[in-house]
Amino acid sequence: MITLHTVAELRAAVTAARNTGKLIGLVPTMGNLHSGHVALVTEMRERADFVVASIFVNPLQFGPNEDLDSYPRTLAADQEKLQQAGCDLLFAPSVAEVYPNGPSLQTRISVPGVSEGLCGAKRPGHFEGVATVVSKLFNLVQPDVAIFGQKDYQQLAVIRAMVRDLNMPIEIIGAATVRAEDGLALSSRNGYLTPEQRQVAPVIQRVLQDIASAIRGGERRFESLTEKGDQQLSTAGLRLDYLEVCQASSLRPATSQDRDLVILVAAFLGTTRLIDNLHLDLDQPV
Ligand code: PAF
Repeated sequence: MITLHTVAELRAAVTAARNTGKLIGLVPTMGNLHSGHVALVTEMRERADFVVASIFVNPLQFGPNEDLDSYPRTLAADQEKLQQAGCDLLFAPSVAEVYPNGPSLQTRISVPGVSEGLCGAKRPGHFEGVATVVSKLFNLVQPDVAIFGQKDYQQLAVIRAMVRDLNMPIEIIGAATVRAEDGLALSSRNGYLTPEQRQVAPVIQRVLQDIASAIRGGERRFESLTEKGDQQLSTAGLRLDYLEVCQASSLRPATSQDRDLVILVAAFLGTTRLIDNLHLDLDQPV
C-alpha cells in the first residue's frame, strides 16, 4: 500500500490504475480505524480492483462545540490495518490540501430532505460538511464504487441523495454495522467512554431491539414506544438527543401505515454522543 498526501499525487496514481482497466473503489474514513472500517475495506476488496481509502478528519462537519480537536489521529496504526485488509492506496491529506482557500470559502453541497431531521437538526451544518467533503473525494478519486457504514444511516441516505441528484456515476454500497459482542455498534467515539460507561452503552442497542419487537408485535403508537425508550436510557444514565421511528427511505416520521421503518437514536453518555439505528422492514421475514 502506498500513502499519498497531495491531490496531484493521488490523481496521478488513480489515473494510472484506471488506465490499466482497473475498477476503482473508495472507502472514505476519518481514521482511528476499528473492525467496522476494516470490514468496509474487506468488502471493497471483493468488488474493486484498486482500493483507495481516505483518512481525513473533516473540520467542515464538526460543530463549534464538538470534538474536532480531540478526535483521535492514529495514522501509523491505521496504515497497518489498511495494509492488512488489502488496501492499495491511502490518501491522507492535510486540511490545507483539501481546503486551500480555507473552509469558509469552500463551495458547499447541501442536500435537502433527508438531511434535515435527526442528526441534521441536532448538528447544524454537519451534513453539509459531510456532503461537501464526500463530493470532493468523489471528484478527486472518481471511483466506480464507494462504501459507507449503515451505522451512520442518515449519512448514507444523504450521500445516496447527493449522488442521485448530482448524477454522479458512482455505485454506493451500504455495509452492515459491525458490533461488539454485547451489541454496541463499533465507533471511534467508543474510545472516549470510561470502562463504566462502556458497560452501560449496549443499552442503546437493547432499546432499539425492544422497540422493534413491540412494532413487530403490532404496536403502532410510536410516541409511547420512544417515550419508554427514553426512560430506559435515562435510567441507565444516558441523556437522549433523539429517538425516532422513521420511514426508511425518506427519514420522515413514520405513520402507522408504513411498513419499511428505521428506528434511529442518538444519546449522550457523559460527554460522548453515540448513535445507532435498526432497520425494520415489516414485509420481510425476520
Ligand atoms: O463517516 C465518516 O467517517 C465521515 O463522515 C466521512 C464519510 C468519511 C466524511 O468525512
